[in-house]
Amino acid sequence: MGDEPVNVKEYQELAKQVLPKMYYDYFAGGSEDQHTLRENVDAFQRIIIRPRILVDVSKIDMSTTILGYKTSAPIMIAPTAMHKLAHPEGEILTAKAAAACNVIMGLSFMSTCTIEEVASSCNAVRFFQLYVYKRREIAALMVKRAETNGFKAILLTVDTPKLGRREADIKNKMIAPQLKNFEGLISTEVDDNKGSNLEASASRNFDPSVSWKDIAWLKSITKLPIMIKGVLTREDAIKALEVGVEGIIVSNHGARQLDYVPATISVLEEVVDAVQGRVPVLFDGGIRQGTDVFKALALGADAVMVGRPIVYGLAAKGEYGVRRVIKMLKDELELTMALSGCPTLNDITRNHVRTRVDNHHCRL
Ligand code: GLV
Repeated sequence: MGDEPVNVKEYQELAKQVLPKMYYDYFAGGSEDQHTLRENVDAFQRIIIRPRILVDVSKIDMSTTILGYKTSAPIMIAPTAMHKLAHPEGEILTAKAAAACNVIMGLSFMSTCTIEEVASSCNAVRFFQLYVYKRREIAALMVKRAETNGFKAILLTVDTPKLGRREADIKNKMIAPQLKNFEGLISTEVDDNKGSNLEASASRNFDPSVSWKDIAWLKSITKLPIMIKGVLTREDAIKALEVGVEGIIVSNHGARQLDYVPATISVLEEVVDAVQGRVPVLFDGGIRQGTDVFKALALGADAVMVGRPIVYGLAAKGEYGVRRVIKMLKDELELTMALSGCPTLNDITRNHVRTRVDNHHCRL
């Protein structure tokens, strides 16, 4: 392999070489049998593109808006935790790369740089990911800080009443760093040397009682639009619309929570059909190349979010690596659009892909 990776998979290889095993396993791993982890990627390979010919593709326009905010491509940085485990400067570099590439950055609730540090280091449009802790005032405080620091939306992650069982982290006795955002608010002591201390701190802090009625509470403490992240069924998409969220994110948390849930790409269409364009639908899980982005757009996503590839770029080459990963995905999407006869995002339709459902009338 040459020094300059040519695709996300090569960035993953580089990240594996440079990261301590404990941290690589944390980022790359899924839960339990890791069935869904493999499926998130493999399910894309079962979707085939139906290109159209003799279309003028001399100009390709990938730009769009998400919640009204401009982005150079329908590709957003997914919130992923603890970037200082990937690079000593952490989320500040990720945010700078987002700004340089003109894409929107999702900042994790469990970031290692503070909300304020990230906000002051770049002018990228930023959304803030939220978990609700048992001590509700912490969520309220974080939302306030995000608002004050110019974040534009809340990405409420709802698939984590408890942390999924990540066996690699348990074996490695994964040590998560203290999170500066919570200094003085929660105990960040390492109190469990038997397994993953991330798991121990999650079970101390995450509130498993959070339910649909709490969306009203969240709406009462913020004016920011709320996107609900972790929807995998038509039933929950409909409920999310009923409680009045501004967006839906089809996500299985990068296959880190419940194992044996479907690959996100295989349930995207079900959710899109239920939502019927009433709010934007974002998508994450398994995006590794431009054709994957194209397939998700064809199945109805308004934009995709990319998680692990960003972390791999950061680990391998810092801010430059994150920029390269975003640029590669954008270039690959641009090429896919050209080769399939779609000069604009609106030209990408359901007819541009064939899934197993189309072939066999059975679910993927
Ligand atoms: C945190 O959200 C994680 O998935 O580790």
